[in-house]
Amino acid sequence: MTLGLSKRVGIATDHGGFALKEELMAQLRAAGHEVVDFGAYGLNPGDDYPDFVIPLAQTVVAGQVERGIAICGSGVGAAVCANKIPGIRAGLVHDHFSARQGVEDDHMNVICMGGRTIGPAVAWDLVETFLAAEFSGAERHLRRLGKVALLEA
Ligand code: RB5
Repeated sequence: MTLGLSKRVGIATDHGGFALKEELMAQLRAAGHEVVDFGAYGLNPGDDYPDFVIPLAQTVVAGQVERGIAICGSGVGAAVCANKIPGIRAGLVHDHFSARQGVEDDHMNVICMGGRTIGPAVAWDLVETFLAAEFSGAERHLRRLGKVALLEA
């Protein structure tokens, strides 16, 4: 099922989400999305999520991919890291409602998930929902996001 138009999407993980990333990439491509893989490119238990999440986040901010998917074991480290990059609005999402509302209300541009906390079917539902959602542009959300953006000024 593809709910939205095809997008150019970046994806990154450490060892904690390597298997999930491989599965999601195949599903994204089968659904017609263009996928840019920021690694990890192999399962290395000693690797570090910032080495993959930072380049992904920078590419999202540069507009070279439309949305980002960042995975680690819990998704927490990926979210903490991605949100340090100005212009990133990353959320750790493990429920369908937040995958949609996080975009519609909060203009989330990177979804973070835990490879050790959710299964591939739930992760795929979250990714599909995240990619199909669009920011509402509602005044109250622009106002709130403006206050958040001031922190980066
Ligand atoms: C690595 O073992 C693990 O700490 C990492 O994948 C992630 O869960 C951090 O938040």
